[in-house]
Amino acid sequence: MTFANTKATVYNDTVVRQFAIMTVVWGVVGMLVGVIVAAQLAWPDLNLGPWLSYGRLRPLHTNAVIFAFGGSALFATSYYVVQRTCQVRLFAQGLATFTFWGWQVVIVCAALSLPLGFTTGKEYAELEWPIDILIALVWVAYAVVFFGTVGTRKVKHIYVANWFYGGFILAVALLHIVNSAELPVGPLMSYSAYAGVQDAMVQWWYGHNAVGFFLTAGFLGMMYYFIPKQAERPIYSYRLSIVHFWALIFTYMWAGPHHLHYTALPDWAQSLGMVFSLILLAPSWGGMINGIMTLSGAWYKLRDDPILRFLIVSLSFYGMSTFEGPMMSIKTVNALSHYTDWTVGHVHSGALGWVGLITMGSMYYLIPRLFGRKQMFSVKAIEAHFWIATIGIVIYIAAMWIAGVMQGLMWRAVNADGTLTYTFVESVKATFPFYVLRLLGGLLYLVGMLVMLWNTVKTATAGRAVPVEIPSVAPAHA
Ligand code: HEM
Ligand code: HEM
Repeated sequence: MTFANTKATVYNDTVVRQFAIMTVVWGVVGMLVGVIVAAQLAWPDLNLGPWLSYGRLRPLHTNAVIFAFGGSALFATSYYVVQRTCQVRLFAQGLATFTFWGWQVVIVCAALSLPLGFTTGKEYAELEWPIDILIALVWVAYAVVFFGTVGTRKVKHIYVANWFYGGFILAVALLHIVNSAELPVGPLMSYSAYAGVQDAMVQWWYGHNAVGFFLTAGFLGMMYYFIPKQAERPIYSYRLSIVHFWALIFTYMWAGPHHLHYTALPDWAQSLGMVFSLILLAPSWGGMINGIMTLSGAWYKLRDDPILRFLIVSLSFYGMSTFEGPMMSIKTVNALSHYTDWTVGHVHSGALGWVGLITMGSMYYLIPRLFGRKQMFSVKAIEAHFWIATIGIVIYIAAMWIAGVMQGLMWRAVNADGTLTYTFVESVKATFPFYVLRLLGGLLYLVGMLVMLWNTVKTATAGRAVPVEIPSVAPAHA
Protein backbone atom coordinates (compact mmCIF):
# COMPACT_ATOMS: atom_id res chain seq x y z
CA MET A 1 0.00 0.00 0.00
CA THR A 2 1.54 3.36 -0.98
CA PHE A 3 0.86 6.65 0.78
CA ALA A 4 0.02 8.45 -2.45
CA ASN A 5 -3.19 6.57 -3.17
CA THR A 6 -4.21 6.13 0.47
CA LYS A 7 -3.90 9.78 1.48
CA ALA A 8 -7.61 10.24 1.94
CA THR A 9 -7.74 7.14 4.16
CA VAL A 10 -5.08 8.20 6.64
CA TYR A 11 -5.10 11.11 9.08
CA ASN A 12 -2.96 14.16 8.34
CA ASP A 13 -0.61 13.84 11.29
CA THR A 14 2.30 15.67 9.65
CA VAL A 15 1.02 19.05 10.71
CA VAL A 16 0.13 17.69 14.17
CA ARG A 17 3.70 16.36 14.54
CA GLN A 18 5.20 19.68 13.48
CA PHE A 19 3.12 21.69 15.92
CA ALA A 20 3.73 19.15 18.73
CA ILE A 21 7.51 19.35 18.35
CA MET A 22 7.41 23.15 18.21
CA THR A 23 5.28 23.23 21.37
CA VAL A 24 8.16 21.66 23.28
CA VAL A 25 10.80 23.83 21.58
CA TRP A 26 8.91 27.11 22.15
CA GLY A 27 8.12 26.00 25.70
CA VAL A 28 11.84 25.85 26.45
CA VAL A 29 12.51 29.20 24.72
CA GLY A 30 9.59 31.07 26.34
CA MET A 31 10.34 29.74 29.82
CA LEU A 32 14.05 30.53 29.43
CA VAL A 33 13.12 34.14 28.69
CA GLY A 34 10.80 33.99 31.75
CA VAL A 35 13.76 32.90 33.88
CA ILE A 36 15.88 35.74 32.46
CA VAL A 37 13.26 38.40 33.24
CA ALA A 38 12.78 36.89 36.71
CA ALA A 39 16.56 37.21 37.28
CA GLN A 40 16.50 40.81 36.01
CA LEU A 41 13.84 41.72 38.56
CA ALA A 42 16.05 40.33 41.33
CA TRP A 43 19.31 41.78 39.96
CA PRO A 44 18.66 44.82 37.71
CA ASP A 45 22.34 44.80 36.59
CA LEU A 46 21.36 41.94 34.29
CA ASN A 47 19.60 44.47 32.02
CA LEU A 48 22.21 44.31 29.26
CA GLY A 49 21.73 47.13 26.75
CA PRO A 50 18.39 48.12 25.25
CA TRP A 51 17.77 44.93 23.26
CA LEU A 52 17.96 42.64 26.24
CA SER A 53 16.39 44.99 28.76
CA TYR A 54 13.48 43.89 30.95
CA GLY A 55 11.00 46.15 29.14
CA ARG A 56 11.68 44.41 25.83
CA LEU A 57 12.17 40.86 27.07
CA ARG A 58 9.01 40.77 29.20
CA PRO A 59 6.62 41.00 26.21
CA LEU A 60 8.87 38.51 24.44
CA HIS A 61 8.29 36.11 27.35
CA THR A 62 4.51 36.58 27.37
CA ASN A 63 4.21 36.27 23.59
CA ALA A 64 6.48 33.22 23.49
CA VAL A 65 4.73 31.28 26.24
CA ILE A 66 1.16 32.22 25.30
CA PHE A 67 1.23 32.29 21.50
CA ALA A 68 4.25 30.16 20.58
CA PHE A 69 4.09 27.46 23.29
CA GLY A 70 0.36 27.60 24.06
CA GLY A 71 -0.63 28.37 20.47
CA SER A 72 1.38 25.48 18.98
CA ALA A 73 -0.13 23.13 21.56
CA LEU A 74 -3.63 24.30 20.64
CA PHE A 75 -3.01 23.84 16.91
CA ALA A 76 -1.46 20.39 17.44
CA THR A 77 -4.15 19.03 19.72
CA SER A 78 -7.12 20.59 17.89
CA TYR A 79 -5.93 19.12 14.55
CA TYR A 80 -5.42 15.71 16.18
CA VAL A 81 -8.72 15.74 18.09
CA VAL A 82 -10.92 17.07 15.29
CA GLN A 83 -9.70 14.35 12.91
CA ARG A 84 -10.17 11.52 15.43
CA THR A 85 -13.59 12.67 16.64
CA CYS A 86 -14.90 13.43 13.13
CA GLN A 87 -13.11 10.46 11.51
CA VAL A 88 -12.00 12.36 8.46
CA ARG A 89 -8.71 13.75 7.23
CA LEU A 90 -8.15 17.48 7.81
CA PHE A 91 -10.02 19.70 5.40
CA ALA A 92 -7.82 21.76 3.00
CA GLN A 93 -4.36 20.19 3.54
CA GLY A 94 -2.57 23.12 1.91
CA LEU A 95 -4.17 25.59 4.29
CA ALA A 96 -3.26 23.38 7.26
CA THR A 97 0.38 23.44 6.13
CA PHE A 98 0.11 27.22 5.72
CA THR A 99 -1.10 27.58 9.33
CA PHE A 100 2.04 25.82 10.55
CA TRP A 101 4.56 27.85 8.55
CA GLY A 102 2.57 31.09 8.89
CA TRP A 103 2.41 30.71 12.69
CA GLN A 104 6.16 30.03 12.90
CA VAL A 105 6.85 33.17 10.83
CA VAL A 106 4.65 35.18 13.23
CA ILE A 107 6.68 33.83 16.17
CA VAL A 108 10.04 34.60 14.55
CA CYS A 109 8.83 38.14 13.65
CA ALA A 110 7.80 38.60 17.30
CA ALA A 111 11.17 37.32 18.52
CA LEU A 112 12.93 39.89 16.31
CA SER A 113 10.65 42.92 16.50
CA LEU A 114 10.02 42.97 20.27
CA PRO A 115 13.70 43.10 21.37
CA LEU A 116 14.26 45.72 18.66
CA GLY A 117 11.66 47.85 20.39
CA PHE A 118 8.76 47.73 17.92
CA THR A 119 5.56 47.51 19.94
CA THR A 120 2.00 48.80 19.97
CA GLY A 121 2.24 48.97 23.77
CA LYS A 122 -0.97 46.95 24.21
CA GLU A 123 -0.40 44.00 26.54
CA TYR A 124 -0.62 40.58 24.79
CA ALA A 125 -1.22 42.49 21.52
CA GLU A 126 2.19 44.16 21.22
CA LEU A 127 2.98 43.03 17.69
CA GLU A 128 2.96 45.70 14.99
CA TRP A 129 0.44 45.91 12.17
CA PRO A 130 2.13 43.83 9.41
CA ILE A 131 2.46 40.92 11.88
CA ASP A 132 -1.16 41.49 12.97
CA ILE A 133 -2.26 41.04 9.36
CA LEU A 134 -0.33 37.77 9.07
CA ILE A 135 -1.91 36.57 12.34
CA ALA A 136 -5.37 37.35 10.94
CA LEU A 137 -4.61 35.41 7.73
CA VAL A 138 -3.30 32.37 9.62
CA TRP A 139 -6.29 32.48 11.92
CA VAL A 140 -8.82 32.58 9.09
CA ALA A 141 -7.01 29.63 7.47
CA TYR A 142 -7.15 27.80 10.83
CA ALA A 143 -10.90 28.42 11.04
CA VAL A 144 -11.41 27.10 7.49
CA VAL A 145 -9.40 23.94 8.24
CA PHE A 146 -11.06 23.30 11.59
CA PHE A 147 -14.68 24.03 10.68
CA GLY A 148 -14.19 22.44 7.23
CA THR A 149 -13.14 19.24 9.00
CA VAL A 150 -16.14 19.40 11.33
CA GLY A 151 -18.38 20.11 8.32
CA THR A 152 -17.14 17.06 6.39
CA ARG A 153 -17.23 14.70 9.40
CA LYS A 154 -18.38 11.10 9.10
CA VAL A 155 -19.65 11.01 12.69
CA LYS A 156 -23.05 12.61 13.18
CA HIS A 157 -22.30 13.93 16.63
CA ILE A 158 -19.89 16.84 17.27
CA TYR A 159 -17.87 15.81 20.31
CA VAL A 160 -17.73 18.50 23.03
CA ALA A 161 -13.96 19.02 22.75
CA ASN A 162 -14.64 20.44 19.27
CA TRP A 163 -17.16 22.89 20.70
CA PHE A 164 -14.48 24.32 22.96
CA TYR A 165 -11.86 24.43 20.18
CA GLY A 166 -14.39 26.00 17.82
CA GLY A 167 -15.44 28.61 20.41
CA PHE A 168 -11.79 29.45 21.01
CA ILE A 169 -11.04 29.86 17.29
CA LEU A 170 -14.05 32.12 16.65
CA ALA A 171 -13.56 34.25 19.76
CA VAL A 172 -9.83 34.77 19.15
CA ALA A 173 -10.54 35.90 15.57
CA LEU A 174 -13.04 38.45 16.88
CA LEU A 175 -10.78 39.66 19.69
CA HIS A 176 -7.71 40.00 17.50
CA ILE A 177 -9.43 41.83 14.69
CA VAL A 178 -11.31 44.30 16.92
CA ASN A 179 -8.46 45.05 19.35
CA SER A 180 -5.79 45.35 16.66
CA ALA A 181 -7.69 47.94 14.60
CA GLU A 182 -4.99 50.56 14.10
CA LEU A 183 -3.76 53.26 11.76
CA PRO A 184 -0.38 52.41 10.20
CA VAL A 185 1.96 55.41 10.09
CA GLY A 186 5.16 53.57 9.13
CA PRO A 187 6.41 50.08 8.22
CA LEU A 188 6.46 49.05 11.89
CA MET A 189 4.52 51.83 13.58
CA SER A 190 0.81 52.41 14.13
CA TYR A 191 -1.74 54.15 16.33
CA SER A 192 -4.69 52.36 17.89
CA ALA A 193 -8.09 53.11 16.37
CA TYR A 194 -9.34 53.79 19.90
CA ALA A 195 -8.36 56.47 22.37
CA GLY A 196 -8.49 57.09 26.09
CA VAL A 197 -10.87 55.07 28.20
CA GLN A 198 -12.40 53.38 25.13
CA ASP A 199 -8.96 52.09 24.22
CA ALA A 200 -8.52 50.76 27.76
CA MET A 201 -11.92 49.06 27.68
CA VAL A 202 -11.37 47.44 24.27
CA GLN A 203 -7.86 46.35 25.36
CA TRP A 204 -9.10 44.64 28.52
CA TRP A 205 -12.13 43.17 26.83
CA TYR A 206 -9.46 41.62 24.60
CA GLY A 207 -7.03 40.88 27.43
CA HIS A 208 -9.48 39.09 29.64
CA ASN A 209 -10.98 37.11 26.80
CA ALA A 210 -7.48 36.17 25.68
CA VAL A 211 -7.32 34.50 29.10
CA GLY A 212 -10.83 33.09 28.70
CA PHE A 213 -10.50 31.77 25.20
CA PHE A 214 -6.79 31.43 24.36
CA LEU A 215 -5.66 30.26 27.81
CA THR A 216 -8.85 28.50 28.89
CA ALA A 217 -11.45 27.40 26.31
CA GLY A 218 -8.93 25.79 23.94
CA PHE A 219 -7.22 24.00 26.82
CA LEU A 220 -10.62 22.77 28.03
CA GLY A 221 -10.89 21.18 24.58
CA MET A 222 -7.72 19.28 25.50
CA MET A 223 -9.21 18.34 28.86
CA TYR A 224 -12.38 16.91 27.29
CA TYR A 225 -10.42 14.68 24.93
CA PHE A 226 -7.20 13.67 26.65
CA ILE A 227 -8.50 13.02 30.19
CA PRO A 228 -11.15 10.48 29.10
CA LYS A 229 -8.62 8.92 26.70
CA GLN A 230 -5.82 8.59 29.22
CA ALA A 231 -8.18 7.48 32.02
CA GLU A 232 -10.02 5.12 29.65
CA ARG A 233 -13.30 6.38 31.07
CA PRO A 234 -16.11 8.39 29.42
CA ILE A 235 -16.43 12.01 30.52
CA TYR A 236 -18.23 12.21 33.89
CA SER A 237 -21.27 14.14 32.61
CA TYR A 238 -21.84 14.97 28.98
CA ARG A 239 -24.81 17.16 29.93
CA LEU A 240 -22.65 19.17 32.32
CA SER A 241 -20.08 19.66 29.56
CA ILE A 242 -22.66 21.37 27.34
CA VAL A 243 -23.87 23.61 30.21
CA HIS A 244 -20.20 24.28 30.98
CA PHE A 245 -19.55 25.39 27.40
CA TRP A 246 -22.44 27.84 27.04
CA ALA A 247 -22.15 29.26 30.56
CA LEU A 248 -18.40 29.79 30.22
CA ILE A 249 -18.38 31.51 26.86
CA PHE A 250 -21.33 33.72 27.71
CA THR A 251 -19.92 34.85 31.06
CA TYR A 252 -16.29 35.44 30.05
CA MET A 253 -17.21 38.11 27.53
CA TRP A 254 -18.41 40.54 30.26
CA ALA A 255 -15.69 40.19 32.88
CA GLY A 256 -12.95 42.37 31.25
CA PRO A 257 -13.60 45.57 33.30
CA HIS A 258 -12.21 43.88 36.44
CA HIS A 259 -8.79 44.86 35.01
CA LEU A 260 -9.81 48.53 35.21
CA HIS A 261 -11.09 48.95 38.76
CA TYR A 262 -10.76 52.47 40.14
CA THR A 263 -9.92 53.94 36.75
CA ALA A 264 -11.73 56.45 34.50
CA LEU A 265 -13.99 53.61 33.32
CA PRO A 266 -17.58 54.33 34.47
CA ASP A 267 -18.26 52.81 37.86
CA TRP A 268 -21.22 50.76 36.63
CA ALA A 269 -19.00 49.05 34.04
CA GLN A 270 -16.46 48.15 36.75
CA SER A 271 -19.24 46.67 38.92
CA LEU A 272 -20.63 44.75 35.94
CA GLY A 273 -17.18 43.23 35.37
CA MET A 274 -16.96 42.29 39.03
CA VAL A 275 -20.40 40.63 39.08
CA PHE A 276 -19.70 38.60 35.94
CA SER A 277 -16.32 37.56 37.34
CA LEU A 278 -18.03 36.23 40.47
CA ILE A 279 -20.57 34.35 38.34
CA LEU A 280 -17.65 32.88 36.36
CA LEU A 281 -16.68 30.79 39.36
CA ALA A 282 -19.65 28.49 38.72
CA PRO A 283 -18.96 27.35 35.13
CA SER A 284 -15.23 27.21 35.83
CA TRP A 285 -15.68 24.88 38.77
CA GLY A 286 -18.41 22.92 36.97
CA GLY A 287 -15.89 22.17 34.23
CA MET A 288 -13.14 21.32 36.67
CA ILE A 289 -15.43 18.92 38.56
CA ASN A 290 -16.47 17.31 35.27
CA GLY A 291 -12.82 16.67 34.40
CA ILE A 292 -11.76 15.42 37.81
CA MET A 293 -14.83 13.23 38.33
CA THR A 294 -14.08 11.46 35.06
CA LEU A 295 -11.65 9.53 37.21
CA SER A 296 -14.39 8.23 39.55
CA GLY A 297 -13.85 4.55 40.01
CA ALA A 298 -10.36 4.85 38.57
CA TRP A 299 -8.54 6.98 41.14
CA TYR A 300 -5.97 4.23 41.60
CA LYS A 301 -4.65 5.06 38.14
CA LEU A 302 -3.17 8.26 39.53
CA ARG A 303 -0.76 6.18 41.58
CA ASP A 304 1.31 4.99 38.67
CA ASP A 305 0.29 7.01 35.64
CA PRO A 306 2.33 10.23 35.53
CA ILE A 307 0.50 11.48 32.41
CA LEU A 308 -2.84 11.30 34.19
CA ARG A 309 -1.25 13.06 37.14
CA PHE A 310 -0.22 15.97 34.88
CA LEU A 311 -3.78 16.19 33.56
CA ILE A 312 -5.57 15.98 36.89
CA VAL A 313 -3.19 18.24 38.84
CA SER A 314 -3.59 20.82 36.07
CA LEU A 315 -7.29 20.86 36.92
CA SER A 316 -6.56 21.48 40.58
CA PHE A 317 -4.56 24.55 39.58
CA TYR A 318 -7.38 25.56 37.24
CA GLY A 319 -9.76 25.35 40.20
CA MET A 320 -7.40 27.37 42.35
CA SER A 321 -6.86 30.17 39.86
CA THR A 322 -10.55 30.38 38.95
CA PHE A 323 -11.40 30.73 42.64
CA GLU A 324 -8.69 33.32 43.19
CA GLY A 325 -9.65 35.35 40.07
CA PRO A 326 -13.24 36.05 41.16
CA MET A 327 -11.98 37.00 44.64
CA MET A 328 -9.45 39.43 43.10
CA SER A 329 -12.21 40.95 40.99
CA ILE A 330 -14.02 42.16 44.13
CA LYS A 331 -13.22 45.86 44.20
CA THR A 332 -12.06 46.01 47.81
CA VAL A 333 -9.77 42.99 47.32
CA ASN A 334 -8.48 44.43 44.04
CA ALA A 335 -7.61 47.66 45.87
CA LEU A 336 -5.01 45.58 47.70
CA SER A 337 -3.92 43.15 44.97
CA HIS A 338 -3.70 45.41 41.89
CA TYR A 339 -0.16 46.57 40.99
CA THR A 340 1.33 43.93 43.30
CA ASP A 341 2.95 40.56 42.66
CA TRP A 342 -0.24 38.89 43.84
CA THR A 343 -1.48 39.37 40.26
CA VAL A 344 1.70 37.75 38.93
CA GLY A 345 1.17 34.83 41.34
CA HIS A 346 -2.42 34.45 40.10
CA VAL A 347 -1.28 34.58 36.47
CA HIS A 348 1.30 31.86 36.97
CA SER A 349 -0.91 29.54 39.00
CA GLY A 350 -3.12 29.58 35.89
CA ALA A 351 -0.27 29.64 33.39
CA LEU A 352 2.19 27.16 34.89
CA GLY A 353 -0.33 25.06 36.79
CA TRP A 354 -3.24 24.87 34.39
CA VAL A 355 -2.04 25.78 30.87
CA GLY A 356 1.47 24.31 31.31
CA LEU A 357 0.56 21.02 32.98
CA ILE A 358 -2.45 20.21 30.77
CA THR A 359 -0.29 20.88 27.72
CA MET A 360 2.52 18.67 28.97
CA GLY A 361 0.10 15.84 29.86
CA SER A 362 -1.59 16.07 26.45
CA MET A 363 1.78 16.12 24.66
CA TYR A 364 2.98 13.06 26.58
CA TYR A 365 -0.14 11.27 25.33
CA LEU A 366 0.27 12.55 21.78
CA ILE A 367 4.00 12.45 21.00
CA PRO A 368 4.54 8.66 21.23
CA ARG A 369 1.45 8.06 19.09
CA LEU A 370 2.75 10.49 16.48
CA PHE A 371 5.97 8.49 16.24
CA GLY A 372 4.47 5.01 16.18
CA ARG A 373 5.37 4.14 19.77
CA LYS A 374 3.27 2.94 22.70
CA GLN A 375 4.79 5.37 25.16
CA MET A 376 7.45 8.02 25.61
CA PHE A 377 11.09 6.91 25.53
CA SER A 378 11.33 7.27 29.32
CA VAL A 379 8.31 7.06 31.63
CA LYS A 380 10.63 7.73 34.59
CA ALA A 381 11.53 11.05 32.99
CA ILE A 382 7.81 11.97 32.78
CA GLU A 383 7.54 11.15 36.47
CA ALA A 384 10.59 13.32 37.26
CA HIS A 385 9.22 16.14 35.12
CA PHE A 386 5.93 16.05 37.00
CA TRP A 387 7.55 16.49 40.41
CA ILE A 388 10.13 19.07 39.32
CA ALA A 389 7.43 21.16 37.65
CA THR A 390 4.94 20.88 40.52
CA ILE A 391 7.52 21.86 43.15
CA GLY A 392 8.61 24.74 40.88
CA ILE A 393 5.04 26.03 40.59
CA VAL A 394 4.41 25.89 44.32
CA ILE A 395 7.62 27.83 45.06
CA TYR A 396 6.82 30.39 42.33
CA ILE A 397 3.25 31.12 43.34
CA ALA A 398 3.77 31.00 47.11
CA ALA A 399 6.62 33.53 46.78
CA MET A 400 4.45 35.85 44.68
CA TRP A 401 1.44 35.62 46.97
CA ILE A 402 3.47 36.52 50.05
CA ALA A 403 5.32 39.28 48.17
CA GLY A 404 2.06 40.65 46.75
CA VAL A 405 0.14 40.86 50.01
CA MET A 406 3.23 42.32 51.70
CA GLN A 407 3.59 45.02 49.02
CA GLY A 408 -0.12 45.90 49.16
CA LEU A 409 -0.02 46.24 52.96
CA MET A 410 3.21 48.25 52.95
CA TRP A 411 1.89 50.71 50.35
CA ARG A 412 -1.29 51.45 52.29
CA ALA A 413 0.28 51.62 55.77
CA VAL A 414 0.04 55.15 57.24
CA ASN A 415 1.39 56.70 60.43
CA ALA A 416 -0.78 58.46 62.99
CA ASP A 417 0.02 61.81 61.34
CA GLY A 418 -1.19 60.55 57.95
CA THR A 419 2.24 60.17 56.33
CA LEU A 420 3.23 56.90 54.62
CA THR A 421 4.94 54.36 56.89
CA TYR A 422 7.15 53.00 54.11
CA THR A 423 8.86 54.51 51.09
CA PHE A 424 8.34 52.66 47.81
CA VAL A 425 11.96 51.55 47.71
CA GLU A 426 11.57 49.87 51.10
CA SER A 427 8.86 47.66 49.60
CA VAL A 428 11.17 46.85 46.67
CA LYS A 429 13.96 45.86 49.06
CA ALA A 430 11.57 43.71 51.10
CA THR A 431 10.52 41.92 47.91
CA PHE A 432 14.07 40.88 46.95
CA PRO A 433 14.11 37.45 48.71
CA PHE A 434 10.79 36.56 47.09
CA TYR A 435 12.14 37.45 43.65
CA VAL A 436 15.05 35.08 44.25
CA LEU A 437 12.64 32.34 45.34
CA ARG A 438 10.47 32.93 42.26
CA LEU A 439 13.57 32.58 40.13
CA LEU A 440 14.30 29.25 41.79
CA GLY A 441 10.71 28.05 41.15
CA GLY A 442 10.92 29.19 37.52
CA LEU A 443 14.29 27.50 37.07
CA LEU A 444 12.84 24.21 38.30
CA TYR A 445 9.93 24.58 35.89
CA LEU A 446 12.39 25.21 33.05
CA VAL A 447 14.50 22.18 34.05
CA GLY A 448 11.33 20.06 33.82
CA MET A 449 10.74 21.40 30.33
CA LEU A 450 14.32 20.51 29.33
CA VAL A 451 13.73 16.96 30.57
CA MET A 452 10.64 16.90 28.34
CA LEU A 453 12.67 18.14 25.35
CA TRP A 454 15.22 15.36 25.88
CA ASN A 455 12.46 12.74 26.20
CA THR A 456 10.74 14.07 23.07
CA VAL A 457 13.92 13.95 20.98
CA LYS A 458 14.62 10.40 22.18
CA THR A 459 11.04 9.30 21.43
CA ALA A 460 11.06 10.90 17.98
CA THR A 461 14.42 9.43 16.98
CA ALA A 462 13.62 5.97 18.38
CA GLY A 463 10.25 5.87 16.60
CA ARG A 464 9.06 6.77 13.14
CA ALA A 465 6.11 8.60 11.64
CA VAL A 466 3.57 5.88 10.85
CA PRO A 467 0.42 6.87 8.94
CA VAL A 468 -2.75 6.07 10.90
CA GLU A 469 -5.72 4.67 8.98
CA ILE A 470 -9.09 6.36 9.40
CA PRO A 471 -11.57 3.70 10.64
CA SER A 472 -14.16 2.96 7.95
CA VAL A 473 -17.00 2.24 10.39
CA ALA A 474 -17.58 5.13 12.71
CA PRO A 475 -18.20 4.27 16.39
CA ALA A 476 -20.44 6.55 18.54
CA HIS A 477 -17.46 8.77 19.24
CA ALA A 478 -13.72 8.22 18.84
C1 HEM B 1 9.92 29.13 33.73
C2 HEM B 1 8.74 29.58 33.82
C3 HEM B 1 8.36 31.03 33.93
C4 HEM B 1 8.99 32.08 34.56
C5 HEM B 1 10.28 32.05 35.35
C6 HEM B 1 8.20 33.25 34.35
C7 HEM B 1 8.51 34.52 34.81
C8 HEM B 1 7.79 35.66 34.57
C9 HEM B 1 8.13 36.99 35.03
C10 HEM B 1 9.38 37.34 35.82
C11 HEM B 1 7.17 37.84 34.61
C12 HEM B 1 7.10 39.35 34.83
C13 HEM B 1 6.39 39.63 36.13
C14 HEM B 1 6.24 41.08 36.45
O1 HEM B 1 5.78 41.85 35.61
O2 HEM B 1 6.53 41.48 37.59
C15 HEM B 1 6.19 37.07 33.91
C16 HEM B 1 5.03 37.56 33.37
C17 HEM B 1 4.07 36.79 32.74
N1 HEM B 1 4.16 35.44 32.44
FE1 HEM B 1 5.62 34.18 33.03
N2 HEM B 1 7.09 32.90 33.63
C18 HEM B 1 7.16 31.56 33.34
C19 HEM B 1 6.26 30.82 32.60
C20 HEM B 1 5.10 31.30 32.04
C21 HEM B 1 4.14 30.54 31.27
C22 HEM B 1 4.29 29.04 30.92
C23 HEM B 1 3.14 31.39 30.94
C24 HEM B 1 1.87 31.15 30.12
C25 HEM B 1 1.45 30.03 29.65
C26 HEM B 1 3.46 32.69 31.49
C27 HEM B 1 2.68 33.82 31.33
C28 HEM B 1 3.01 35.08 31.81
C29 HEM B 1 2.12 36.22 31.70
C30 HEM B 1 0.73 36.24 31.07
C31 HEM B 1 2.79 37.30 32.29
C32 HEM B 1 2.28 38.73 32.45
C33 HEM B 1 1.67 38.86 33.83
C34 HEM B 1 1.04 40.18 34.17
O3 HEM B 1 1.03 41.11 33.37
O4 HEM B 1 0.52 40.31 35.31
N3 HEM B 1 4.65 32.61 32.14
N4 HEM B 1 6.58 35.73 33.89
C1 HEM C 1 -12.92 32.70 36.88
C2 HEM C 1 -11.80 32.91 36.29
C3 HEM C 1 -10.91 34.11 36.49
C4 HEM C 1 -11.21 35.38 36.94
C5 HEM C 1 -12.56 35.93 37.36
C6 HEM C 1 -9.98 36.13 36.93
C7 HEM C 1 -9.85 37.42 37.41
C8 HEM C 1 -8.69 38.14 37.37
C9 HEM C 1 -8.46 39.41 38.03
C10 HEM C 1 -9.48 40.13 38.90
C11 HEM C 1 -7.23 39.83 37.72
C12 HEM C 1 -6.51 41.07 38.22
C13 HEM C 1 -6.77 42.27 37.42
C14 HEM C 1 -5.97 43.44 37.90
O1 HEM C 1 -5.98 43.75 39.10
O2 HEM C 1 -5.32 44.08 37.06
C15 HEM C 1 -6.66 38.84 36.83
C16 HEM C 1 -5.44 38.95 36.22
C17 HEM C 1 -4.98 38.01 35.31
N1 HEM C 1 -5.45 36.73 35.15
FE1 HEM C 1 -7.14 36.00 35.90
N2 HEM C 1 -8.97 35.33 36.47
C18 HEM C 1 -9.49 34.09 36.18
C19 HEM C 1 -8.80 33.01 35.71
C20 HEM C 1 -7.56 33.06 35.13
C21 HEM C 1 -6.85 31.96 34.53
C22 HEM C 1 -7.35 30.51 34.49
C23 HEM C 1 -5.70 32.48 33.99
C24 HEM C 1 -4.60 31.81 33.22
C25 HEM C 1 -4.65 30.75 32.57
C26 HEM C 1 -5.70 33.90 34.26
C27 HEM C 1 -4.76 34.81 33.80
C28 HEM C 1 -4.69 36.11 34.19
C29 HEM C 1 -3.73 37.04 33.67
C30 HEM C 1 -2.70 36.75 32.56
C31 HEM C 1 -3.89 38.24 34.39
C32 HEM C 1 -3.01 39.47 34.33
C33 HEM C 1 -3.44 40.42 33.32
C34 HEM C 1 -2.53 41.61 33.30
O3 HEM C 1 -2.68 42.52 34.12
O4 HEM C 1 -1.64 41.61 32.46
N3 HEM C 1 -6.82 34.21 34.97
N4 HEM C 1 -7.56 37.82 36.67
